[in-house]
Amino acid sequence: GNVTFTMIKPDAVKDNHIGGITKMMEEAGFRVVALKKTRLTEERAGQFYEVHKERPFYGDLVKYMSSGPIVAMILEKDNAVLDFRTLIGATNPAQAEEGTIRKIYAKSVEANAVHGSDSDENAQIEGDFFFGADERF
Ligand code: GTP
Ligand code: MG
Repeated sequence: GNVTFTMIKPDAVKDNHIGGITKMMEEAGFRVVALKKTRLTEERAGQFYEVHKERPFYGDLVKYMSSGPIVAMILEKDNAVLDFRTLIGATNPAQAEEGTIRKIYAKSVEANAVHGSDSDENAQIEGDFFFGADERF
């Protein structure tokens, strides 16, 4: 697929890294199709992460993701989902490759700076969760 969905997570927004992170995305060849700063309620964060409902960290993750504003984006590039996950690095920043967004900006396995869709199907679902047709260019 040629699009993926990302969020800059609450800690990275609070620490003034919107520009630095978005610059890395653009320099890696991703084009911004849609972008907004918003805040998830606990209920909306719970819906977004519904697939992780049974995992032990679900409650903490929902609290964290609703703790402050995030920046949501749809990004376009050939092979977007896989190339974007390479750009962000491993979930746990301690295991992330040098030069990845998480290696540079993540604080912990939970506060790991960015989200990236894990499949073409989820990229569509997640983009639709935040953006209408009139918000995509
Ligand atoms: P996303 O791009 O955010 O979906 O990350 P991911 O696909 O690399 O990881 P995964 O989907 O498995 O987990 C979703 C999010 O839950 C992670 O990005 C972390 O913020 C959080 N998370 C994952 N594992 C743990 C954990 O062991 N403890 C805690 N507290 N949070 C976790
Ligand atoms: Mg994931």
